[in-house]
Amino acid sequence: MLNTSLNMKLDKKKLLGQFFSGSKIAEMIEALVPSRNITSAIDPMCGIGDLLLPYADIEDLTGVEIDVQLRDTIIERLPNIQCISGNAFSAQTLSCLKSEGYDLVVANPPYVRKELIGKAQETKFSLTDITCNLHFFTDEFNTLNDSERNMMHCAIDKISGLSDLSIPAWLLCMMLVNHNGKFAIVLPNSWLSREYSQPILELIDNLFDVNYILNDVNGVWFKGNAQVRTSIIIASRKSSCNINTSIVDLYESAQNSTSLYGNVTEAHNFANFIRKGISIPNICEIKHLPKSTITSVQTEKLEDCIRSVSSKSNEYITMSSLEDVGLKISQGLRTGANGFFYLKRVCEGVYRSNIYVGYISHKDNLFLPVIQGQSDLTDRYAVNTKLSTVLLYIQDSLTQSDFDNTEEEHKIGYNILPLDIQQYISDSEKLKIKGNFIPSLSSVKTNVRKPKKGLYRFWYMIPKLQRRHSAKIFIPRVNSSAVIVYKCDIVNAVIDANFSTIDNLDNSIWTNNALVAILNSTWCQVQYEQLGTVMGGGALKLEAVQLRKVKIPNLSKKVLLELDRIGGELCKCRISNQSDLLDQVDFHIINSFFNNKEKSEILLGELKNKLQHYKEIRQ
Ligand SMILES: C[S@@+](CC[C@H](N)C(=O)[O-])C[C@H]1O[C@@H](n2cnc3c(N)ncnc32)[C@H](O)[C@@H]1O
Repeated sequence: MLNTSLNMKLDKKKLLGQFFSGSKIAEMIEALVPSRNITSAIDPMCGIGDLLLPYADIEDLTGVEIDVQLRDTIIERLPNIQCISGNAFSAQTLSCLKSEGYDLVVANPPYVRKELIGKAQETKFSLTDITCNLHFFTDEFNTLNDSERNMMHCAIDKISGLSDLSIPAWLLCMMLVNHNGKFAIVLPNSWLSREYSQPILELIDNLFDVNYILNDVNGVWFKGNAQVRTSIIIASRKSSCNINTSIVDLYESAQNSTSLYGNVTEAHNFANFIRKGISIPNICEIKHLPKSTITSVQTEKLEDCIRSVSSKSNEYITMSSLEDVGLKISQGLRTGANGFFYLKRVCEGVYRSNIYVGYISHKDNLFLPVIQGQSDLTDRYAVNTKLSTVLLYIQDSLTQSDFDNTEEEHKIGYNILPLDIQQYISDSEKLKIKGNFIPSLSSVKTNVRKPKKGLYRFWYMIPKLQRRHSAKIFIPRVNSSAVIVYKCDIVNAVIDANFSTIDNLDNSIWTNNALVAILNSTWCQVQYEQLGTVMGGGALKLEAVQLRKVKIPNLSKKVLLELDRIGGELCKCRISNQSDLLDQVDFHIINSFFNNKEKSEILLGELKNKLQHYKEIRQ
């Protein structure tokens, strides 16, 4: 009985994203958006009302919460509140809200994974239902002018099928802010670098001036949620004034028993303290950005380093990114069922999978070598050793039974698979991974295609590989120590989704060797640390979307040729012994920017110190 109710609680936590913010986060928001300046406030997913508590006394206070069991607690804590027990995305809730919007929208949106959206007892709304209603809301609220409405509709259309519930929640929060209002939203810092968050960030930049970004450097604000680094974004509706963004990095040592910044200053003085911008290293570090956009925040830090050496920092802002110079940065291969598609070498020419007891013999046309994880890497930049994993890559063959059961026009040209693989497929059909039969796994069942005209495809046929799956340059997505960029020298090798891949699209100037040199430079390493997400335990997560933002000076053809040569040398040597070669790379990159040896050396020194500092704080 006890277990059942515990499970129900856990389920609800997951299905509704119930993590409450607590009083300290709420108090910090109020210190920056004082209740005396606010007449109306709403939390559209209010939990037990934590974020509204500091605003308890204002005239017009609204909380929406889907979990009716929380209603009594909300009303008890906030007697003044208009408490709406319902789904924030339903038309019924909309009818209870002020169409002119609110002075303040506070929220900690529920981070409910895409597969769990609409699975709670309280709501059966799918992501499609939600987006459909959001379009309707956009037209009903008077908070947006025509062009802003268009932008909102576009952002709703861009909601990816991979999004969690926080994405529509963000859009709802933005449309609830009145013309002069603000939002204060709590989020995991890693959310900012998700591919699917990008349209939201663009919309924030178009509709809002970002006033503050507060960062929980040591991941200590949510006690029960070990080491998730939280951020708070506070933004006001766009105005014609020039507004700075203040970035405040708060370390654990800034906290005292009553406040997240209590060791630094008092509540009434917090805004003033930030405005003065006096950083206390490793306690509370403050930066003011001249531009109030969230996208500029992500590139601000290297600019800072350059500014300390030269007035050329403005050129950094307009510098090309890796994406701009024509590199294609993506994620490696996701099979949807590694247990089935990846086979491990047992001995020369003999393989078996983790889910199957039988042995399978090597087939040239059906197997491709795979770089699956860090254990396939050695202490060299170039990977050319024999790999122990292969991908079962079936494109032009069928099992006998699929062949027999398929009409002629849908199987022209297909061969019959070797018997050991047919056996492997038919046995695997009866196996479950994470409770599902392999052919019904969500990303395996999509392999099945039965077009009216043309060849059928079956669950065991992975979609045709793209260039990005076998690009020659790759970077681990999770890096426990320094980020190292590798080159794959194995013919036809596939790179797994544990890595991001970088494809030069056969550009003869940005050669793979030049890329090994450039991407392992201090210049790039510093940016990886700044753009990546530090995970619990100190590893750095670096996704393709972050890599695309890495900036690079304009490198002449001559410099790129020289970097190609040095990269070639690097690939012949062990990683640990390469400081001389890497120094040469750094020199070429930084000198391309300054064209001044003395300044280049100073900047390189600065960058090396920065890099060391970043590595130390995350490890
Ligand atoms: C992360 S919690 C945050 C609660 C509160 N804002 C805070 O900061 O403590 C998110 C809340 O959203 C509620 N919720 C989830 N889906 C909802 C929906 N569709 N409509 C309204 N509330 C919802 C959950 O029950 C949960 O209480």
